[in-house]
Amino acid sequence: MRQISLPDGENVPALGQGTWYMGEGGGRRKAEADALRHGIELGMTLIDTAEMYAEGGAEEVVGDAIQGQRDQVFLVSKVYPHNASRKGAIAACERSLQRLRTSHIDLYLLHWPGSHPLADTVAAFRQLQEEGKIRHWGVSNFDQDDMEELVAAPGGADCATDQVLFNLTRRGPGFDLLPWCRARAMPVMAYSPIEQGRMPDHPALDEVARRHGVDRFAVALAWVLGHDGVIAIPKAADRKHLEANRRAADLVLTDQDRQALDRAFPPPTRRRPLEML
Ligand SMILES: NC(=O)c1ccc[n+]([C@@H]2O[C@H](COP(=O)([O-])OP(=O)(O)OC[C@H]3O[C@@H](n4cnc5c(N)ncnc54)[C@H](OP(=O)(O)O)[C@@H]3O)[C@@H](O)[C@H]2O)c1
Repeated sequence: MRQISLPDGENVPALGQGTWYMGEGGGRRKAEADALRHGIELGMTLIDTAEMYAEGGAEEVVGDAIQGQRDQVFLVSKVYPHNASRKGAIAACERSLQRLRTSHIDLYLLHWPGSHPLADTVAAFRQLQEEGKIRHWGVSNFDQDDMEELVAAPGGADCATDQVLFNLTRRGPGFDLLPWCRARAMPVMAYSPIEQGRMPDHPALDEVARRHGVDRFAVALAWVLGHDGVIAIPKAADRKHLEANRRAADLVLTDQDRQALDRAFPPPTRRRPLEML
C-alpha cells in the first residue's frame, strides 16, 4: 500500500476506511466490525470515525474491530465543534477513548469550524497530546481562509491534516486548498471519495473504466489517490466493495484517462467555497 507522510514524517496508508452510517443498529454491528477487520487485512489500516457517527455507535463498532490488533491501526476520530472548548474537547476525547476501548487516538480532528476560539481547541489538543491520549491533531471542513486563521493561532501550525470533501464531482479544493496544504507538507484526507456511492453514470467515466477492466467507482477512487499528498477514506461495509477499493489503490490512470476525465468533470478555474456533506 502506498504511504503518505504526515508533516512530522510519520507514514500512513494512502487508502483508509470510513465509518459514517456504521453503528446505527439494525443488527449490523458484527458485520460492520468484520468488514473493518477485512479492510485491515487488506492493508487499509487507517480508520476514520467521529463522535458524531451514530452518536458514538460507529466508535463502538471500531472498538470491536480493533480489539487484539490496536497496534496495526492508525485511528482517526473527531470532536463535534460544540464540544471543542478548552475543557469540552478533553471530555469528548475521553468519551471517545472509552467507546473505542483504547488508550489513545492517533489523529484527533475538529469536525468542522465552530464558535469556540481555535486557540482554546488547539490548547485542548496539545494537552491531550501531552497526556498521551492523542498523537496528532488536525481539522476537517476547513477552507483555505480557515486554515490561514488556524496556522496564525498559537500552536495552530502543528495541524497534521485537513479532511475535506474531494472527489471527481467536487473538485473545488484542487484549485487552492490542495496546493496550500501541499506547500506545507500537510496531507489532505479526501472524504466521500466516491460521492457516497452516487458517482454519476457518465460515458467518459465508463469508457476509462472499460479500458482498465474496472467499474466507475474504482476509476473515481484511483483519480483521488492520484493526487500527491491525498489520503482517501471510502466507507465500505460490503466485502466486495472493500476488495475493489483496495485494487483501485493500485490502479494508475494514464494521461489519456486524466484528460478524458478533465473534459467530463472540468477542473475549477477559480476559487470556490469549500463544499461539505
Ligand atoms: N469530515 C467530514 O465531515 C466527513 C463527511 C463525510 C464523510 N466523512 C468520512 O469519510 C468516509 C467516506 O465518506 P462517505 O461514507 O460519505 O462516502 P463514500 O466513501 O464516498 O461512499 C460510501 C458508499 O459507497 C459504497 N461503496 C463503497 N465502495 C464501493 C465500491 N467499490 N463500489 C460501489 N459502491 C461502493 C458504500 O456501500 P457499502 O457500505 O454497502 O459497501 C457506501 O454506500 C465516511 O464514512 C466518514 O468516515 C467525513
